[in-house]
Amino acid sequence: MRLLVVGGGGREHALAWKIAQSPLVDTLFAAPGNPGIARHARCVDIGVDAHGELVDFARRERVDLTVIGPEAPLVAGLADRLAEAGLTAFGPSAGAAAIEGSKAFSKDLMRRYGIPTARFATFDEPAGARRFCRELGAPLVVKADGLAAGKGAIVCATLEDADAAIAECMERKAFGAAGARVVVEEFMVGQEVSFFVLSNGGDVIALAAAEDHKAIFDGDRGPNTGGMGCYSPVAGFDEALEKRVMETIVRPTLAALAREGAPYRGVLYTGLMLTAQGPRVVEFNCRFGDPECQALMVRAPGDLVPLLLAAARGDAWPPARSWSSAASVCVNVASGGYPGKYQAGLPIRGVEAAEARPGVRVFHAGTATRNSQLVTAGGRVLGVTAVAESMEAAIAAAYGAVGEISFDGMHYRTDIGRRRA
Ligand code: AMP
Ligand code: GLY
Repeated sequence: MRLLVVGGGGREHALAWKIAQSPLVDTLFAAPGNPGIARHARCVDIGVDAHGELVDFARRERVDLTVIGPEAPLVAGLADRLAEAGLTAFGPSAGAAAIEGSKAFSKDLMRRYGIPTARFATFDEPAGARRFCRELGAPLVVKADGLAAGKGAIVCATLEDADAAIAECMERKAFGAAGARVVVEEFMVGQEVSFFVLSNGGDVIALAAAEDHKAIFDGDRGPNTGGMGCYSPVAGFDEALEKRVMETIVRPTLAALAREGAPYRGVLYTGLMLTAQGPRVVEFNCRFGDPECQALMVRAPGDLVPLLLAAARGDAWPPARSWSSAASVCVNVASGGYPGKYQAGLPIRGVEAAEARPGVRVFHAGTATRNSQLVTAGGRVLGVTAVAESMEAAIAAAYGAVGEISFDGMHYRTDIGRRRA
C-alpha cells in the first residue's frame, strides 16, 4: 500500500516511524515531513494547509490512505476534500472535527447530551463574559472559541486576571478571529489525563492513556506550552476508570456527533480531569496528542495500519491486541526562550548517540538540515522517547539519552514522568 502522512512535527514522526514498520506499506510519503521523518518516508514539500496540492498529490501518487496529523487541516476540511476526490483519509470530517475547532460547539454538545464537564457559558461580547465571571467566582478559565495553537485557554486565579484575559481575547484580539467568541468555565481540580480512542464512525476501540506536562518548568511552573513531555500508561487510570470514561463520556459523545449528522472517524483525544466527582472533560481534540503520540507509538502493540484503515473506511476492527505493561516516557527538548521567542538554526549534537541507547527513539519536532548539519527549527525540537519494563527504567533511559544531546540554549524539564511514577 501507499500511505501519506500529513504534518511535520514530533507526532507525525512517531506516526511515520510506526507506519513504516507495517508489512502492508511499501511506499510512505510525508508532507511536509522533517529530517527525522525523512528516514522512514519520502518527504514532499507541501504544507499542511495546501489542501488542493495535497489532494492532487494523493491522487497522482495513488495514495491508498492519507493520515492527517494536526488539527488545523482537519478543522479546515482536508478529510472532506480527500473524500470528495474518492480518496481515503484517516481523520474526521470538518463537521466532526468541530469538537476541537470550536469550544462553544463542543461544550454545547456536552451540555445537551449530559456529558460531564465544567460548568460554562459562551459569549460574543465582553460585558456578559465579565458578568458571568462574577457569578462563577475565581479561579476560572477563559477560553478562545477557535483554534489557538494550544494557547487559547487562560487559567485565571482572580477576577482581575479574568477581566484581562477577556480583554486579551475579545478586545486586543490576541488569538485573532478564534477569540471573537469566548467560553468562560469553572476551574476543575484533579489529575489531567489524555485518553485516546479510535472510532470508525459506528464503533469505538480504546487505545491508551498518557499524561502530558504542559508547563515549561519543573514542578508545573511557568507558562503553558504545547507539552514538555509525557508518560504512558497512567497509573491512576486503571481498567475500571477507562470503562467508566468509555461509558459516560466517549460513547455518548460519539453517539451525539453521529446524531448531529457528523459521525466521527479517526482518533478522538479526550482531555480529562479526574475530579473528586469523577472524570470530567477538559476538552476534546480531533487528533493524536503531541507529545502523547510519541509515548503511545513506542508501546503500541502490533501493526497500526489495519486500525487506521478500519477507522478511515468504517470497516470492522481487526482482532484486538492488548497493550503490554511496558512504560514509556517522552521528554521534549526545547529551544531556549520557548514558549516565547527563540532562536532557530542552532546545530544539534548527539542524536545518534542518544538513539544508540536501548529502548530509545528520538522523534524530531522542530529540526531542519542545513549544509548536512541537523539544526533547530522550532520551539519544541526533539521528543526523546524511551520504552522499558517499568516507569522508573523508562525515565532513566529517556534522561540518559537526553544527556547525549546538546545545542545552544537547550531546555527540558527534569521531572517528566515523576508526577505519578
Ligand atoms: P484546553 O486548551 O482546553 O486543553 O486547556 C489547556 C489547559 O488548561 C488544560 O490542559 C488544563 O491544564 C487547563 N484547563 C483548561 N480548562 C480547565 C478547567 N476547566 N479547569 C482546570 N484547568 C483547565
Ligand atoms: N499535548 C497536548 C496536545 O497535543 O494538545
